[in-house]
Amino acid sequence: MKKLLIVSNLPSNNTKILLDQVKKGAESIGSENIKIISSDAINITYNSILESSAIILGTTENLGYMSGIIKDFFDRNYNQCLNKTNGLPYALYIRAGHDGTGTELNIKKIITGLKWKEIQKPLILKGVWNNKFKDQCFNLGATVAAGIDANIY
Ligand SMILES: Cc1cc2nc3c(=O)[nH]c(=O)nc-3n(C[C@H](O)[C@H](O)[C@H](O)COP(=O)(O)O)c2cc1C
Repeated sequence: MKKLLIVSNLPSNNTKILLDQVKKGAESIGSENIKIISSDAINITYNSILESSAIILGTTENLGYMSGIIKDFFDRNYNQCLNKTNGLPYALYIRAGHDGTGTELNIKKIITGLKWKEIQKPLILKGVWNNKFKDQCFNLGATVAAGIDANIY
């Protein structure tokens, strides 16, 4: 059984909706080979990461950077993952009021150290809330889950 881990910080109702849509998208492919775990990043420890076949990471952009919860997620888990998760397929979505680039850049710096493998271009959900964000997150979850199921990563 493969595991898809979906984590985000969840400071608002909208960010909860986004995480839920990613999960629903992953479930939508109906694979019996994938266990999907979605969670507030604050609850995730390195054991869950080590067991994962792929990870989808969500964050808001706050003050030009990833959220404190996602920085904490890396701070708590980086050392235990280093050299044990090389090549872990990952995808990133960022909810930003008007930018998102600082978050993308800085998450990529951390992930360069971890040697994870980007499997989708980062999805930046920018501006005032738009219902199309839900579809974009659903599609992200579905695409990643289909890739895991087909062993293409
Ligand atoms: C303290 C704070 C700092 C923020 N800084 C940024 C920022 O630097 N760049 C940006 O694009 N959005 C910024 N935002 C907007 C958040 O990304 C946005 O509130 C978040 O994505 C939640 O959106 P939602 O209202 O759809 O839940 C900031 C929000 C807060 C509360």
